[in-house]
Parts: sequence; structure tokens; C-alpha cells
Amino acid sequence: MAPPADELRLGYDVDENAIRFSNYFHLLRELTHLSAGWLPLAPDFDVKYALGDHLHDDARAITKIRRRLYELRHPSEYPGAPAEELEELLDRLAAAETPAEYITLAYGEAKPALLRAFRVDLDHLDPVSDEPSLRLLTQLVARQERHIGELGPGADGPLPVIDDVGALPIRLKSEPRALRVMAPLVEPARDDFVEVTAEGDPFLARELYINDPDENHVPVEAEEQRHFFHALMDAEICAAELMARNSHEHPEMPWDFHVDMARQTWDEMRHAKLHSLLMPKELDCRWGDYPLGFSYFRSVYAHDLLGRLALFNSTSEQKAMWRHSHRRKVLVERGQEQIAQVFDYLLADEVPHVHNGTRWGTYLCGGDESAYKRRVRELRDGLDETGAPAGAPQAA
Ligand SMILES: [Fe+2]
Ligand SMILES: [Fe+2]
Repeated sequence: MAPPADELRLGYDVDENAIRFSNYFHLLRELTHLSAGWLPLAPDFDVKYALGDHLHDDARAITKIRRRLYELRHPSEYPGAPAEELEELLDRLAAAETPAEYITLAYGEAKPALLRAFRVDLDHLDPVSDEPSLRLLTQLVARQERHIGELGPGADGPLPVIDDVGALPIRLKSEPRALRVMAPLVEPARDDFVEVTAEGDPFLARELYINDPDENHVPVEAEEQRHFFHALMDAEICAAELMARNSHEHPEMPWDFHVDMARQTWDEMRHAKLHSLLMPKELDCRWGDYPLGFSYFRSVYAHDLLGRLALFNSTSEQKAMWRHSHRRKVLVERGQEQIAQVFDYLLADEVPHVHNGTRWGTYLCGGDESAYKRRVRELRDGLDETGAPAGAPQAA
């Protein structure tokens, strides 16, 4: 650990320091890209949740590492290419063929290597001249320890194959390393005890999803609330999976796009977790009690990135804001305060999610927001009154 700040150590010089952060960048960039690709294919809900949470941590870490690289007078957009030894590890990560194989490599080798290098760094750096690195690495150590504890071997795992990733050379003049994009999804994976059918849960009525105060039906009876929240939990997972795949399938997008997608992935997984906790506590049911279907997910996923943002963020989520607010009001009036409060948090998180649609949809339309809005209107014309394409009911 770092010595007290009144002791002069003069650790790494500026260039060595920048090389270390460049290596951290390369490893974390590959991890965020691949975790986003694998998240929809991990069947276990708790694993999927952890991947979404860690993805968001790691995306924010990259933003801070890029900032530190800039401060150290180094290219922060793409700091050279990784050395052969690191490439070998990155290639193995990218070549994983199942979610379990990826998680074993990411949490058993890549993250422990990163954690070890952060610790070596903290042992050598000068705590005064390089205090910005000290602060940042202290935070990143705590996060990687948590990640490895949750999905990896924990503190007792084997020593990493690379002794100090930070000390590897960086090839400054080489071409940027290409990220492997996985095959398109056929459908996302769910826990093996969850039944997936073509039509989903037949109990759900279209009146639950209509944006009209006279026609919208708020689920108030116990049995309909059980089915409704079960479907809502799945809709949140689908939302996380869409955002994760938006990021994974578009490595050409600016870095801030990936941070926004990572944040929304985590938000949606948190919403799903909230419902998974609410169901047994307030509604006497649990995840897996009813069947679910992927027709709405498929109908959005089939579009290109612009279409997905227009249909999901700028339409489905934008309209869900009204429904959440309406549901909250009705439930408060009926004295179901606990359930009403859930909708208030969903509503609060929905605002930045809708903004993600406008921000990145406008970017994809060359910065022309009115061109994006025209595209949103065109795509909405093909939807029914619940905001879903005919025959593909949504559940949010
Ligand atoms: Fe959500
Ligand atoms: Fe959302």
C-alpha cells in the first residue's frame, strides 16, 4: 500500500506512468466490450445482474483512465496497441465460446491481473507528485476486489498469469486493436426454471399498456399485480440486454455512448432486481412463476442502432414515463404506498434513458435533431396503441 503523503518517494516517471494506464485501458476496454456482448447470453439472473453492475463500474473506470492519460500528455482516445503478451490474454478472452468460459477467463485471469497491477502501482507510485493516480487506483482496487469476489475465485484465487500488466510495453505506432463483435442474438437466455413460450404470459391484457387515461388499466388486484410485475421484471432484463448489445455491436461509436449504454444496462438490471425483491415481499410470487416471451424484444432488436434508439428509448420508454406516473398516482390513492414508490424510482431513471435516445439518435443523424424526430415519427406509425408492433406485445 502507498506510504504516508509526507514521505518523498518519486515512483514512476510520467512516461512509465502513462504506459501503465494505457495497459489498464486496453484490458478494461476489452472486458467492457465482451461483458456487454455476453450479458444477454448468461442465463442466471444473479450473474446477469453482476455483469451489468461491473460493466458500468468498468466503463466509468475507462473514462477516468482516459482523463489521467490526457493529463500525463498521452493519447487518450486510443493509447497505442497492447504488447504481444497482453494481446494473447485479450485474444483468449475474445475467443470464449460460452458465457461460463468467458466469466472464468474474465474473473479468473483478466481482472486478477488488473488488480495485481493496480496494487504494484500503489506500492511504487509517489503519493504526492502522483496523487491523482493514487486516488484513482485506490478506488479501482476496491471495485475489482468486489467484482472478483462476486463472479470470480475471490481473494484465494491463483496468482495471475501476467505478473504486472502495467509494466508491459505499449506499441505506440501500431494500428488500434480491432474488437471482436459476437454473432447477432437469436434470443436472450433466462434461468433454466423460467418457461419461455411464443406468446408469453396470456394473463396480461393490452389495457395495461395503453397511454390513455380513460383506457389504461392499473393492476390493483393481487393476481393481476403478480403477473404484471413478473412481466415487468422480464421487460427490464430485455431493456438491459438491448442496451448492452447496442454497445457491444457498435464499437465504432464515441466512448460516451458506451458509458451511457453501460449506465442504462445497470439501471435496467437494478429495476429487474427491485421487482425480484418486491414480488416475494409484497405479492407472494417469484421470478419464474409465469411464462414469458421474446416477441417484443425481437421486434426492436431486429432494427439497426438508430431504429432501436427510436423505438425503444424515444418511444417505449418515453411512453412508459406517463404510465409509471399514472400507476403511481392510482396506487397511492389505494394505499399501496410501497408498490407506488417503485414506480416513482422507475420514472426518475427513465428521464436519462429517454435522453439517451435523443442524444445518440441525433448523433447518428449527423447532429440533426429534427431529422431524428422525423425518423421516430416514421417508426411510430407502424405501432399499435400499446406502442408495440402488431402481434408483439410489450410489458413495461
Ligand atoms: Fe427500467
Ligand atoms: Fe429504462
